[in-house]
Amino acid sequence: MTDFIQTEINNRILTVRINRPERKNALTHAMYTTLGDAIEQADSDADIRCVMFTGSDECFTAGNDLSDFASGLKGAFTETPVGRFLFLLANAAKPVVVAVNGPAVGIGTTMLLHCDMVFAGTNARFQMPFASLGLCPEGGSSLLLPSWIGRVRAAELLMLGDAFSADDAYRLGLINRVCAPHETETTAIGACQRLTMQPPAAIRATKKLLSRPTHEELTATMLTEGELFADRLKSPEAAEALGAFMQKRKPDFSRFK
Ligand code: COA
Repeated sequence: MTDFIQTEINNRILTVRINRPERKNALTHAMYTTLGDAIEQADSDADIRCVMFTGSDECFTAGNDLSDFASGLKGAFTETPVGRFLFLLANAAKPVVVAVNGPAVGIGTTMLLHCDMVFAGTNARFQMPFASLGLCPEGGSSLLLPSWIGRVRAAELLMLGDAFSADDAYRLGLINRVCAPHETETTAIGACQRLTMQPPAAIRATKKLLSRPTHEELTATMLTEGELFADRLKSPEAAEALGAFMQKRKPDFSRFK
């Protein structure tokens, strides 16, 4: 349990709010554990028909807490808090809707690839700076992104790691709608409310069928990415990138082969 994740059940919707504003909602191990618990709770509680993930009007999440990266990922990936969360999300039985405002960095973008509907504010900034941090893609993004948006666009986003806007994300087919930031959450809640009024077993069947074509390949990819990610976290390149972030300077990768 952590106070940085707040959950609330209202009208059969489980709202999961990331609330750590002083660190731009960066996700710690404990926060991943609570996020994973929320998905398990939704799947086991017949009164919950839909999950909504959100942050604030200013920030969704700055991604993994960069100080936590220093402690690395130990043991089997599926047993790590982040790995468990990603697998629970990818295999969730009930629909997951997301409201994104402000930064959605790293896993803040890749987790969206496993959600059913994504609404983003005009202030949303998506970014997957894994390679820039000496790391590699995670969360199945190396499989899902190229197949959804095309190989070269996926390569650009994953290799150069530039931030992209809500309009760009909409054009790429990664989100459903661009909203005024103060309306993002109400728009997402509106979608959740409609989902809760649909026949629940039919919604679960639809979700399962939408995931089925890539299910096995996705599982294998997420495991491979997880292993490589854990290795990359120990690399001198990652040490340079993370050290540079902490010291508020530009990283220098010129010495690496
Ligand atoms: N982990 C830990 N701390 C983080 C963080 C992260 N992922 N992202 C931001 N913070 C901290 C900052 O260090 C800063 O702390 P300080 O007040 O002690 O200096 C505080 O949160 C506010 O961040 P700041 O960078 O000043 O906010 P911003 O609005 O200018 O920029 C971001 C927001 C998200 C664009 C920027 O913080 C960022 O790029 N963060 C890193 C994202 C990242 O690389 N995540 C990992 C992806 S794999």
